[in-house]
Amino acid sequence: MCEDFLVYLFGYGSILWRPGFPFIRKFNAYIKGYKRMFYQGSTDHRGTPDAPGRVVTLIKQPDDYEKDDWITWGTVYCIPDEEAEVILKNLDYREKGGYQRIETDIFINGKEGSHGKAILYVATTLNEEYLGDDTMDNIANQIFRSVGPSGRNLDYLLKLAASLRKMEVSDEHVFELETRVLEMMRIHNIPYHHEGKTNGMTADSPLTATSSSSSDIVASETLMLQKKYFVEPKGTLVIDDGAVQAISQRAKSLLPVGVVQVIGEFDCDSLVSIMDLNRQEISRGISNYSSKELSLLVGTHSGKIISVLGFSRGEAVVTNKNLILNNTFFSYRIHMDYYL
Ligand code: SIN
Repeated sequence: MCEDFLVYLFGYGSILWRPGFPFIRKFNAYIKGYKRMFYQGSTDHRGTPDAPGRVVTLIKQPDDYEKDDWITWGTVYCIPDEEAEVILKNLDYREKGGYQRIETDIFINGKEGSHGKAILYVATTLNEEYLGDDTMDNIANQIFRSVGPSGRNLDYLLKLAASLRKMEVSDEHVFELETRVLEMMRIHNIPYHHEGKTNGMTADSPLTATSSSSSDIVASETLMLQKKYFVEPKGTLVIDDGAVQAISQRAKSLLPVGVVQVIGEFDCDSLVSIMDLNRQEISRGISNYSSKELSLLVGTHSGKIISVLGFSRGEAVVTNKNLILNNTFFSYRIHMDYYL
C-alpha cells in the first residue's frame, strides 16, 4: 500500500531559526485561530527561575471573536514518520518549560482549505511558567534584561524577527517589541546589525557570531536523511503545462491526466523525477503507481483509474504531501541545494 510517510512539524518560535533536528524539506505555512505572543515565561532557556525571560507561545482566538484575522505564520518541517518518534522526544525535552504538543491544520498561500495537519508545541495559559499579557514597555524591558542558559532573551526576539522578515511575513507584536528592544540597545550602546537591520550603532552584530558545531551536526544529519529518502529518482514522469501549473503554483497533487510520458521502470512507492514538456525537472515525488501501471494511465482521468487497472491506489499519481519541492511559494524552479 502506498501511503503518505511524512510527519509535519510546525515551528513558530525558536524552531524557525534553530530547528535542531534533521528534516527532509520545509515550507512556510500558517495556522488559523492563534496569535504568536511573548506570553510564556522562560526559566530554562532565556531566563532563570529568579528572573524569567519571555518567549513566544500561541494564544487561542476567543470564541466570541468573529473576524478571521488571527493567523500565525511559521515553517513546516517534513520528517519521515519512522524518524518522528525520536525527533519529537528530543523536542519534548527542549520544550519542557510548559509546552505541550498539539495538532492543527496548516494552510499555505494560494490554496483554499487545509494543507494537512501538523504537530506543534504550545504553552497554554494553565502551565506554571505562563506570564500572559503586560504592557509592551514591560514586556520589552523584561526581554531586554533577561539571560538564561540558551543566551540573551533579546537574541531570541531579534532572531525571531529576522526569521519572520526573511519569510516575508508580518507580525505586529513581534516587530513592535523588536523596535522597542533595539532602541533600548541603542541607548545602552549595544550595537545591532543583521541583514540590513540596524539600531544605528557601529560594531558587528551580536547575532553574527554563532556557534556552529551543533547546527553542523544537524545539517549533516539533514543531508543524510535527504539522501536516504530522495537522492536517486528511479524514473521520470513528463507532465503537461496544466499539471506543471497545478503542482508548482497551486500546490495540487499530480493526477494521471497530466502525465504525458513515463520513462524508466519503477515500482509503486518509488521516487520519481517530474519534468515539464521541455524536459526540465520541476519537482520530485513518491509515485503511488508503478511505471507499468502508469504507462496504462497516461492522460487518464482519475475517475477511470479503476476501469483501466482494475484497482486504485488513489486519484493522485503523486500526492502533494509527497512532492518534494512544493516549498512555500511553489516556485517553479528546482534548487538542487534544497535537498542535497
Ligand atoms: C516553536 O518554536 O515552535 C515553539 C516555541 C519556541 O521554542 O520558541
